[in-house]
Amino acid sequence: MRLTILGGGGFRVPLVYGALLGDHAEGRVTRVTLYDPDGARLSAVARVLADQAEGVPDAPAVTVTRDLDEALRGADFVFSAIRVGGLAGRAADERIALAEGVLGQETVGAGGIAYGLRTVPVATAVARKVAALAPDAWVINFTNPAGLVTEAMSRILGDRVVGICDSPVGLGRRVARVLGADPDEAWIDYVGLNHLGWLRGLRIGGRDELPRLLADEEALGSFEEGRLFGPEWLRSLGAVPNEYLHYYYFNREAVRAYRSAGRTRGAYLRDQQGSFYEEMARPGTAALAAWRRTLADREATYMAANREAAGAGERAEEDLEPGGYEKVALALMRAIARDERTTLILDVRNGSTLSVLDADAVVEVPCLVDANGARPVAAAPLPYHAVGLVTAVKAVEREVLAAAESGSRETAVKAFALHPLVDSVTVARRLVEAYAAEHPGLAYLRN
Ligand code: G6P
Ligand code: MN
Repeated sequence: MRLTILGGGGFRVPLVYGALLGDHAEGRVTRVTLYDPDGARLSAVARVLADQAEGVPDAPAVTVTRDLDEALRGADFVFSAIRVGGLAGRAADERIALAEGVLGQETVGAGGIAYGLRTVPVATAVARKVAALAPDAWVINFTNPAGLVTEAMSRILGDRVVGICDSPVGLGRRVARVLGADPDEAWIDYVGLNHLGWLRGLRIGGRDELPRLLADEEALGSFEEGRLFGPEWLRSLGAVPNEYLHYYYFNREAVRAYRSAGRTRGAYLRDQQGSFYEEMARPGTAALAAWRRTLADREATYMAANREAAGAGERAEEDLEPGGYEKVALALMRAIARDERTTLILDVRNGSTLSVLDADAVVEVPCLVDANGARPVAAAPLPYHAVGLVTAVKAVEREVLAAAESGSRETAVKAFALHPLVDSVTVARRLVEAYAAEHPGLAYLRN
């Protein structure tokens, strides 16, 4: 099997490669092609992978290229993990939104819309190339905002593109752990959009164990989402929301924490990753050690502003260990390549799963996966308040897709203005002006 990684010079590529190194079974990935427009980043990551492969006799062979066509031809799987505008772009997304007093986050609110507006045209062009050069390949999309970008690509690739996110998996695992259940045995009832979903139940042998957790104050205080949202609010909801819902349910506090932080998440990562790639450009740098150090720091500070706003404290040891993201990707590839039937929470087209959305809307739900791809399973209806959020945000995504297609600035304004976390049409207009002035990738937006 040959895997191509778009954004191959990205910081999280070694996580994926590390997972591949642990797979020795037949049908595994034997060749990895890293594609990235940035040669320096490519060689930095290639050095980390070479260190990782040391002493592993059947390590997948790695090649690097700056030619997208070459990268795609002959690929069985394509991972798309690109960042249009880089981390400097992410920091600008946050800064511009916060200056207007609204949330600037990579995937949620105004920041997510700005990022989506510049990523969708690029992801669409990639999808067209895949359709032309590797029509039988499966595309696994990590690129954020993952739900929106997957939907854009699915308009060209249909069910050949599947989006992934590790946060519902992480949530399911944490809840299972607190309940003393085996996460692989439990049925996790999780439904929503990417970064906008709820764990509504966890069934073992047909019995829902979530009420037991909701009734247990101490257990609720012992895991990330419990501390972030507080036991009372979880009981009110009767569900455990995805951590990204903190931006909705505690929006004021999150915006305030972001504004008063010395640096936003994007700015912090821009600087941190900048130093990493600089360090890697120096000969003699111990590549794997430098990467591990940088990763540990990144994991420890994940959602730090939100945790601070909630008084949730430091991240727990067991939540620090990375292992979600690449495990989901590997599990998905194995299921498809070897026809090993499994269930995973993925971003796929809705079909008839949630009746409040049309069939083409990409949702994040449990799916049955095998050689035929990923199929969402039926889900119980969402309560009205969740329907409200999910349909409002899907409406925003549709305006982003329409703006990317037409180049209409007015449509882009509509996308911002309709978002539940943008509180005025005037603000939406100013945001579009400021983002368009900042990002060359938004030059396509015209009056
Ligand atoms: C979670 C999210 C991802 C996101 C990642 C890293 O895993 O599900 O979508 O890319 O966190 O966030 P960071 O702020 O460290 O870039
Ligand atoms: Mn995610």
